[in-house]
Amino acid sequence: MTARIIDGKAFAAKVRGQVAEGVARLKADHGITPGLAVVLVGEDPASEVYVRNKGKQTLEAGMASFEHKLPADTPEADLLALIGALNADPAVNGILVQLPLPGHMNADLVINAIDPAKDVDGFHILNVGLLGTGQKAMVPCTPLGCLMMLRDHLGSLSGLNAVVVGRSNIVGKPMAQLLLAESCTVTVAHSRTRDLASVCRGADILVAAVGRPEMITGDMVKPGATVIDVGINRVERDGKTRLVGDVDFASASGVAGAITPVPGGVGPMTIACLLANTLTATCRANG
Ligand code: GUN
Repeated sequence: MTARIIDGKAFAAKVRGQVAEGVARLKADHGITPGLAVVLVGEDPASEVYVRNKGKQTLEAGMASFEHKLPADTPEADLLALIGALNADPAVNGILVQLPLPGHMNADLVINAIDPAKDVDGFHILNVGLLGTGQKAMVPCTPLGCLMMLRDHLGSLSGLNAVVVGRSNIVGKPMAQLLLAESCTVTVAHSRTRDLASVCRGADILVAAVGRPEMITGDMVKPGATVIDVGINRVERDGKTRLVGDVDFASASGVAGAITPVPGGVGPMTIACLLANTLTATCRANG
């Protein structure tokens, strides 16, 4: 079997187009322009690339973009003061503090200082609790993007066996909550899971979010399964730096029914969902 490729790049372009339409309507009907503030502390090169892309796509969607770059040695109190100012600023509807933060900062404290209604990352403890109890929450962007692709490909997910490999707060845990809310039977596997291969082979839906290059191989995939690869790993191969996922695409694509590539799968969906969340936060804030 050769898997259908789930084209995240094309899907993300469609979502961004829908967001841009929503933004245009908000402006025309209510004179409101959604605003997204992104805060970057320090000079991590990968984070700088993400932040640049976020700013560009925010503007392309017709939203206002506010970027705050702080030095790596910024005192935590200064970052908290900035968040307080953004919370109070009516032009700012969404706030994202890029992670990871420098070691002297308490990331939980910082994230929980964000107004939950402006928490477009869905990382605030209130949003985590709302999602876990099936209430209206801001949903973390990467799992939301995965869910949109799954729904688009499979329609109803009800009753399917879903295995999420990885238990991070950013992807694995919220992904599991979202799949549970779709009435999947959900297993969360991780580095201590015994016989990971056999657990994965039971999955109709397999979401890989472990951060280990090409760890999920074709022999771990149920024939016909839908495989979502969240991993973005840089590896040196033949003297070149290449991006690979957590799934060994070459072997898994011969077994799966559908699979997301890396790059061009989950990655582009994350920023598209960030824009969608910013539009949602703006609409909720304005009734
Ligand atoms: N760093 C890597 N992914 C993310 C994300 O989705 N949100 C934030 N704030 N930081 C990240």
